[in-house]
Amino acid sequence: MDTPSNIIDGKAFAARVRADVAKSVVTLKADHGVTPGLAVVVVGEDPASQVYVRNKVKQTAEVGMHSIHHELPAETAQEALVTKVRELNADPAIHGILVQLPLPAHIDEAAVIETIAPEKDVDGFHVVNTGLLATGGRGMVPCTPLGCIMMLKDCLGDLSGKKAIVVGRSNIVGKPMAQLLLDANCTVTIAHSRTRDLAGEVRAADIVVAAVGRPEMVKGDWIKNGAAVIDVGINRIDAPERGEGKTRLVGDVEFETAAKHAAAITPVPGGVGPMTIACLLKNTVTAACRQNNIDPDSV
Ligand code: GUN
Repeated sequence: MDTPSNIIDGKAFAARVRADVAKSVVTLKADHGVTPGLAVVVVGEDPASQVYVRNKVKQTAEVGMHSIHHELPAETAQEALVTKVRELNADPAIHGILVQLPLPAHIDEAAVIETIAPEKDVDGFHVVNTGLLATGGRGMVPCTPLGCIMMLKDCLGDLSGKKAIVVGRSNIVGKPMAQLLLDANCTVTIAHSRTRDLAGEVRAADIVVAAVGRPEMVKGDWIKNGAAVIDVGINRIDAPERGEGKTRLVGDVEFETAAKHAAAITPVPGGVGPMTIACLLKNTVTAACRQNNIDPDSV
């Protein structure tokens, strides 16, 4: 069966972003002698982090970038990690630095992130970058919200005047997402665990971005007819209907019902997920351009 036309194909979109990145890398090498370089640092052996990082390293190489990968043991001292980040800050072959989160409990994540040179912070987590995003400046934008706003602009065009709700207020997704929607001239509501009438708030929205990490918390019949729905959640739940011990992935939105109302909706998996790494690669190209005084739009 063909995919219904209101389902946003994040995999195909991400493949297009990666193809554009690969073209930019060719131009940067040929015309400027610059090979964008990304360093990924992982501490410990969190299995989910290992999978993410393997994908990141593989895709970085596929678009022709220079890629390095540091795996440090779980007992690494904060000072040793900070020293590693400082080395990468000083390395001219590295334009982007990503320290995989979560870090082991004995390490202060904020202290490590603040050590990354803001212009190399391709995650957009450094306070300089969050500050630039909040004040309309030119910083690095966190990858997941960047992927979400690109998909929204691709399917809706101009977002001016639309009512948008972001469900979730994390520093990594909810807050920067709200900033990007505001920047695109939406009227933005941020909903969270203390919001009084979540159903009513969602029912009023033309754009719904769900990023709470709770399986199917946003009910399908809350979605206004014709709304656009971006589901950032990836939750693994038991699926006894598939057999004993089986599980499946669901988003933060009740997909089947929501898809009956939405004009555009991202599935889980295959929606926002693939866009995050594609945007990390895009951010690395942007960082490499800026560090070499090249206009990112020219490559
Ligand atoms: N852990 C899960 N997702 C991410 C991400 O986008 N960046 C970093 N640094 N860590 C993560």
